[in-house]
Amino acid sequence: MDKASKTLKISDILDIEKIKTVNHSIQKAHGLPNECYTKSEYLNFEKEKIFCDNWTVIGTASSIPDIGDAKIYSLLGIPIIIIRDKSNNIKVFHNVCSHRGVRLVNESCKLKNIIRCPYHSWTYDFSGKLIATPHIGGMNIHEAKGFDREKSNLKEIRSHVWMDLIFININKNAKSFDQSIKSLNDRWSKFISEEDKKLVRHAKDFGYFNMEVNTNWKLAIENFCESYHLPWVHPELNKVSNIKDHYHIEDSFGTYSGQGSYKYVQQFYHNKKFATFPNWPSNLTNNAEYVSLFPNVMLGIHIDHFYAFWLEPLDNNKTREHFEMYYVGSESAESDDFKEMREKNFKFWQNVMNEDIFAIESMQRGRSSPVYNGGNFSPIMDTPTLMFHRWVANSLTK
Ligand code: FES
Ligand SMILES: [Fe+2]
Repeated sequence: MDKASKTLKISDILDIEKIKTVNHSIQKAHGLPNECYTKSEYLNFEKEKIFCDNWTVIGTASSIPDIGDAKIYSLLGIPIIIIRDKSNNIKVFHNVCSHRGVRLVNESCKLKNIIRCPYHSWTYDFSGKLIATPHIGGMNIHEAKGFDREKSNLKEIRSHVWMDLIFININKNAKSFDQSIKSLNDRWSKFISEEDKKLVRHAKDFGYFNMEVNTNWKLAIENFCESYHLPWVHPELNKVSNIKDHYHIEDSFGTYSGQGSYKYVQQFYHNKKFATFPNWPSNLTNNAEYVSLFPNVMLGIHIDHFYAFWLEPLDNNKTREHFEMYYVGSESAESDDFKEMREKNFKFWQNVMNEDIFAIESMQRGRSSPVYNGGNFSPIMDTPTLMFHRWVANSLTK
């Protein structure tokens, strides 16, 4: 972040009083103002205060399974590279060469031992250490007096893998990941133990899709926070998990919100059912929970599968949504016996996510209306949504 934008305040970009109305009682509160969905200066500010200051999801560890696998990513223009290193750990770096600043790796690939810059061949190892600087001191002289290689290592980004999801905190200023996730971990400890989490496997097939939607990323999160729209937008889902069987979820620490259902049933099976989490209590078999973990990932947990729907913001009005499906253990996730069931389950959720597109794109269009003022909330049905608005507002103004 350059100095000028560091000193920029949210009040330089939009009317702070409008944002603060989210902190009124829900009966009096209005949502975030339109500019938070439409204005590019605002998006730049949000990039810092929301995405770089917090733990943001940028991909999955299982998508780079082998040592040397590398994936590139752009967080609103910030070039990033994710690597599986020689110790089988995920490392995340700023994807920029320390020499003349070219983007170091230009496409996702398999690296052999090193990362070599395509411009002048400066070379880094998988820990980011600069290990070769050919001809830096003139022809055939590979070192230069006064040049300290140590200072030109790649810049690592703070990262953490949780439930296969790779989280990063670019500005290095968030609480530790363990502290940040503690509240959700504690909540879900009633369903799954730490050992159970190790059983989670990405589906070998019918496990991933992405889609580009014409909406601001926040509207996807907001839509996921509530079950209010179920009967009208998801008639099929509403048959198996009716609106009246849902409850709100609001984290007392304000790190996530969403909804839960008391009526989840394992609806797809032939001779056998998907494996279930071993420690999931028998009296909670039909519980499922859907939470938006702020800022950018929506999670669904059930006794026999878990999904993550994470958001790649592209512009004010453009977002790529990535859907990742997981099962309990490799048999359910990988064996051919479960393939048909995986397909059905995947299509079921894909259909649900597709049904939401109209709502989130249409809300974006509505935010160009000069008479919309952030809207009003249902005091009963919209409390999880307001929690997200407050989290955004407080992140911007703190
Ligand atoms: S820019 Fe990378 S080696 Fe010159
Ligand atoms: Fe929905």
